[in-house]
Amino acid sequence: MTQDMTPVALAGPEHEPFGFPMQRDCPFHPPARYETLRAERPIVPVRVPDGQVAWLVTRYADVRALLTDPRVSSDRTHPNLPLTESVTPQTRRNIAEVGRSLIGLDRAEHGPQRRMLITEFTLRRAQELRPHIQQTVDRAIDAMLAGPQPADLVDALAVPVPSATVTKLLGMPYEDRELIERAANAQLRQSVPAQERQETSAELHAYVDRLISAKEANPTDDVLGRLIRRNRQTPLFDHEMLVGLTMLLLVAGFETTASMIALGSAWLLSNERERAAIVADPAAAGPAVEELLRYFSVVDALPRIATDDIEIGGVRIRAGDGILISFASANWDDAAFADAATVDIGRNARHHVAFGYGIHQCIGQNLAREELQIVFRTLFTRVPTLRLVGDVAGLPFKNDSNIYGVDRVPVTW
Ligand code: HEM
Repeated sequence: MTQDMTPVALAGPEHEPFGFPMQRDCPFHPPARYETLRAERPIVPVRVPDGQVAWLVTRYADVRALLTDPRVSSDRTHPNLPLTESVTPQTRRNIAEVGRSLIGLDRAEHGPQRRMLITEFTLRRAQELRPHIQQTVDRAIDAMLAGPQPADLVDALAVPVPSATVTKLLGMPYEDRELIERAANAQLRQSVPAQERQETSAELHAYVDRLISAKEANPTDDVLGRLIRRNRQTPLFDHEMLVGLTMLLLVAGFETTASMIALGSAWLLSNERERAAIVADPAAAGPAVEELLRYFSVVDALPRIATDDIEIGGVRIRAGDGILISFASANWDDAAFADAATVDIGRNARHHVAFGYGIHQCIGQNLAREELQIVFRTLFTRVPTLRLVGDVAGLPFKNDSNIYGVDRVPVTW
């Protein structure tokens, strides 16, 4: 039977919605409440930090259904968009600006933009970057081994590998990576004061603005330069949209991959059998990476807006209601992955939704897979004696970030 109610109607004291984001009990697991919700109230009202109430979607089947439903919009300018952090009006404007490219667009506008970019993100393109990624990983490990012990795997590997890859991809000087690393981290962390987040965001914006102007004047042979050339033939992006798209690629491509390297390495260092399997058979890294992507689901949940009434999972979502799609909960749904709470690097987890699903499914997924496979394979093969300093549960996990991760992974060898 359908519960005919808007999430706002449920906001009274007798029906106070759960707060969102929800707390994790175990640092490697999504919030435990997701499990109860999947079983009992798979689509439930939650209150996000700015006080708004939205529908949280927790089951795999419902998540995939809504991500392919044309009545579900990604409009980043909609006032009801349920953001999972407290934001200033300026941050809302920044989110809206980035949303003018790809991630915030619906079908009609999204399709042409995505088609113009997709040739840059094919499997073949990602494979062409393999030698560059391998060299970056080897150099990062050389530098770590030459330095003092204990070393921090986040500093030594998790940050430099994605930042070298994304700067190479976009044709940015590698020397400029420090700003990207700082700005991406500040933008995603709720513990960073609003003023500082704003300043780093403005600094990154000014930098990207100059970079795009230089490439517009003289298109280089890289993703951005080639996009600018294609855009001259079929104009789709104005200058500000190119700036927004570049900011999106930098932030989306950096912190997510960095978090997966850090969490995946910490987990593999605590799990001898799986580590040995990857070293013994390099082909094992492929499925292992899929399983770790599923298990960690570093992007827990993203917002959407209903543009029409939708009946799903026993509730009626009204036009204009905010929706939070939980990729992390979907990836832990036993209906889609047998014994989902257990890591099984031998299983086929390719149908996970850690990269999203539907039209916005991650454009950088081939690249992220290459980076993760090369890092795990190379690190544990080259440094077989690598071990964590201290207990994995004692690591400083990022509980204040929109992208889950860990700040430091101290290791010795
Ligand atoms: C482990 C690494 C990564 C994870 C877990 C991840 C996750 C995601 C997710 C969940 C989405 C869906 C967003 C939505 O539905 O609203 C997405 C979209 C996107 N990702 Fe990734 N991502 C990763 C790496 C990358 C990389 C390396 C790049 C680029 C260099 C990238 C660029 C993008 C872009 C541009 C979109 C928007 C696509 C669109 O709207 O058409 N991501 N990513």
